This record gives sequence, C-alpha cells and structure tokens, in this order.
Amino acid sequence: MSGIKIIGTGTYLPEFIATNEMFTKFIDTTDEWITTRTGISERRISPDKPNFVMAAEASKQAMQNAGVTAKDIDAIIVSTCSPDFFYPNTACLIQNLIGANGSAAMDINTACTGFISALDVARVYLAADVYKTILVVASERLTSQIDYEDRASCILFGDGAGAAVVQKGDGLYYSHLGAQGDMLKDLYCKVLYDRNNPFFKGDDMLKDIINTPQKERYLQMDGKAVYKFAVDAMAAAVEKVCADSGFDINELDLVIPHQANIRIIQSALKKMNVDQSKVYTNLEKHGNTSSSCIPMCLAELDKAGRLKRGMKICLVGFGAGLTYGACIFEY
Ligand code: COA
Repeated sequence: MSGIKIIGTGTYLPEFIATNEMFTKFIDTTDEWITTRTGISERRISPDKPNFVMAAEASKQAMQNAGVTAKDIDAIIVSTCSPDFFYPNTACLIQNLIGANGSAAMDINTACTGFISALDVARVYLAADVYKTILVVASERLTSQIDYEDRASCILFGDGAGAAVVQKGDGLYYSHLGAQGDMLKDLYCKVLYDRNNPFFKGDDMLKDIINTPQKERYLQMDGKAVYKFAVDAMAAAVEKVCADSGFDINELDLVIPHQANIRIIQSALKKMNVDQSKVYTNLEKHGNTSSSCIPMCLAELDKAGRLKRGMKICLVGFGAGLTYGACIFEY
C-alpha cells in the first residue's frame, strides 16, 4: 500500500496558561514535585472555547498552510475523547465551521492514541483512492473531565488541537495499533446519563467494574499502572513497526511520542535504545493534551521549518483502553 503526504499542519492553543504554581493554591503540591515527576511546567486550559471551536481553528490553519480550501476536503476524520456532544460528532461540527459541506465526517476515539488511529484510517482511504484530500484533526478539552481535587491527575492535562491535511504519498508507511481492553479500570471517564426513563435500572455491571458512583463523573486513573503499561507498550509498538519496515530505530529521523510524562518517554526510549536527540517533546509547556499532543508537535516542527520531505518519522502513543499504536512514514 502507498504512504501519506502531509501537505499542511495547524494548531490551536487556548490563551489561558495554568502554571504549576497556580495549582499550589488549591491542591497540596509544589512546582518542584510536578516538574521532577512529570516534566510539565505549564499547560493551556480553555475556559471558554468548546472543543469543536478549537478544532476548527487548527483545521483552518492546516488548510491555509496546505494551500487548500474547504471545497478540496473530501473527508474529515477527527480524534477526540472529550467531545462537546454525543452527537453530532465533532467532525460534523468542524465541517460546518470551515464550510466543507458535503465531505465525509467521522470521529474516532482511541483516547490519547487517537491521532495515530485517525491517520491510519485516512491512509487506508487514500491508498484505496476513495478520497484525495483528508483533514485529520485531533482536538481535546480533557480539562472538562478532570477532578481538580485529585492532585495526581489534575496537574497532567491541558487543552488544545492539532490538524493535518493529508494526501496519498509514495513513501513508506507502516503502522501497528492495539488495545488491552482488560485494563479499562486503569484510565476511564464514564458517560453519565441523567435518565428519566422509568424502565432504566442503572448500569449494574459497570458499577461492579469501576469505582464509586460519585467518582464516575471525572477521569479516573491508576497512575502507576498506566505508567508501566505505557513504557512497555510504546517500546513494543515501535519495535514492531521497525521490524515490519526493516529499519533500525536509529535510522529514523524523528520520533514523536505521546506527551504524557517525560519520565515515561525517557524510560521507553531507554528500552528502545533510541538516541534522545531524535525525539521531540513539548510537554513542558503544554502538558498532556491527549490525542492532540502528536499533531501539535508536528505543527510546531512544521512551523519551525524542521520537517523535510523524505524524513522518516515515527509517531507512538498510548491511552485509555488501554490502547497503543505506532507508525513510521516518510514525510
Ligand atoms: N503533588 C505532590 N504529591 C503528589 C502529587 C502531586 N501533584 N500527586 C501524587 N502525589 C503523591 C502521592 O500521593 C504519593 O504520596 P504517598 O507516597 O504519601 O502516598 C507520592 O506523591 C508518590 O506517588 P506516586 O503515584 O508513586 O508518584 P509517581 O512518581 O508514580 O507519579 C504520576 C504519579 C501520576 C505523575 C505518574 O504515575 C504518571 O505519570 N503516570 C501515568 C499517568 C498518565 O500518563 N496518564 C495519562 C495517560 S494518556
């Protein structure tokens, strides 16, 4: 199968910056603890703009950088696990704001692995010549799901969106996606239905599986379990795509990992035996923006003129599910 060609990228960052120091005002923490345990100094929070508006802003920028108009977009594929609506999906909301009426519009949710999954779906459509130009977007407003009394999780996450306009390319492309559904308890946020249906008896099975009901409305996380999984899963996914493509990891030009925690990234890199200079991170300034992390990194690198045609790029991530995935493609 053919590869992908990213012809334009874009990003949207909320204006409001929440520094580590600000968190010390309402939880028992310090800037030193957060920085040394996570690598994060600050993150953006969107107090006002909904997810789909951030997504549309990133999309417009990507289209402008690609030199395409809304009429050129055949499909919009969105990764989000923090949508504003159950329905319509975020892709339809973006489509309306950018004026791409008539395009296909679908959402994908593999949590923080989502951009890699969305890109993978786009690639299959492009390879099959179903669509010529696809807008792949990841947009997350995860801070709307966070319990700001839970000091282990609230310091990690930020909001933001990233987008890429993608066409069929003639370079290499290898991917590997997977999930371990038996680890659902380690990271989840349950949908709360406020029902007035007299026949509804509650989700007894879910009550057995997950935590107490009052916690259900917020993101729940077993940080240690996720940490361990992330290191192993990222290393294994990269090893798999390297083995499939026949490349040694150090032959790659750039590795962009999911930006969850600098210690997770460093441990995974050590396992993969990869030269740290090939790895791009921005979590110090943005925290974990879930599936938006990777396209936000791509857009930053693109803006800085650091993406060159022919570069071999590896994207690797993990997230709730627990899911994981990696791809190698020629830029
Ligand atoms: N400030 C100060 N202390 C904190 C704290 C905070 N913000 N959060 C937790 N602590 C405390 C804990 O309560 C614990 O105290 P105790 O020893 O008295 O019980 C202590 O710090 C150590 O906690 P621990 O859980 O061992 O810390 P850690 O080094 O594992 O770091 C995470 C915690 C959450 C930062 C880390 O486990 C992590 O990043 N996990 C992965 C999470 C993730 O990436 N989720 C998103 C996936 S997409």
